Amino acid sequence: MPRHLLAIDDLQDEFAGVLDWAIEFKRLWSTGDEVVRNFMPLDLTTVGCIYEKPSTRTRVSFEVGIDRLGGNPLTLLKNDIQLGSSESIGDTAKVLSRFLGAITYRCFSHDDVTALAEAAEVPVINALSDRHHPCQAAADLMAVKEVFGDDKVRIAWVGDGNNVLHDLMLAGVMLGHDVAYATPSGYEPNADVVERASAIAATTGARLIATNDPVEAVTGAHVIYTDIFLSMGEEHMTDKVQAFDGFQVNMDLLSHADPEWRFMHCLPAHRGEEVTDEVMDHEQSIVFDQAENRMWAQMSILALLVDEGAWEAMAEFMGLLT
Ligand code: CP
Ligand code: NVA
Repeated sequence: MPRHLLAIDDLQDEFAGVLDWAIEFKRLWSTGDEVVRNFMPLDLTTVGCIYEKPSTRTRVSFEVGIDRLGGNPLTLLKNDIQLGSSESIGDTAKVLSRFLGAITYRCFSHDDVTALAEAAEVPVINALSDRHHPCQAAADLMAVKEVFGDDKVRIAWVGDGNNVLHDLMLAGVMLGHDVAYATPSGYEPNADVVERASAIAATTGARLIATNDPVEAVTGAHVIYTDIFLSMGEEHMTDKVQAFDGFQVNMDLLSHADPEWRFMHCLPAHRGEEVTDEVMDHEQSIVFDQAENRMWAQMSILALLVDEGAWEAMAEFMGLLT
């Protein structure tokens, strides 16, 4: 049975190891280490990358990362294939499994990536659905670790109760971080995801704090995270934006945070809306590190799901399996 990544809690116990692997692989790559540069677990493997929605980071980071692991990325845009118009998700999954070593899928409905995974005979990675964005959370917690090491921090979310928050809260509490999220009333995160995160938090000692007050969430926080108010597919919901009055991340709001705060955003950002230029461009903003980490985190995830033995051998080489 192939292993899939549909939401970040699919990784559970291995999550910290996946991030350590990515951080060390990234560091060794920058030194030109020959073993790392010649690590090719995707040799002779084509990875199909399906997109129902636009993408900059996800597309480029998967294409470059797959290429660096010796594989061949095959990007399939919405109108390139029969999926959704004249062929079922299940049949598409079975056909693609005859050619591909793994599939990444960016879709509207989370049910669709779930259905693809159920029928696929190769690993399926959720490249963003309306419910989850696990690769983003992996890159984000990698960036948090690069700054704060093994310290437990307070992560504050200010904004919509959306896909990015869902995996950020799951990933945060999986690593023992406190996660405080401020959403406008009526835009709280999905109750099932909150329940899963609460259950994980109970085992790791993390706290999950829900509020409708951005100042309460940000007070004492080390990481402050926001996202656009209208996610892809919601562009027509212009009335929704009114609910986000007072939810902009600006220097006033950050005055309540820990002085060593870091600002995070999954990007794309709508400067002047959910975040000011001053915050985006601040030396304590790590938004572009997050973007770069998409590739390193996904390389670790791909290697683990496609060839666990190769992932472990590399972990051993990097001194992570003592
Ligand atoms: N953060 C993110 O997923 O960006 P893209 O939509 O550009 O892939
Ligand atoms: N919440 C956003 C994230 C984009 C990376 C969306 O789904 O559009």
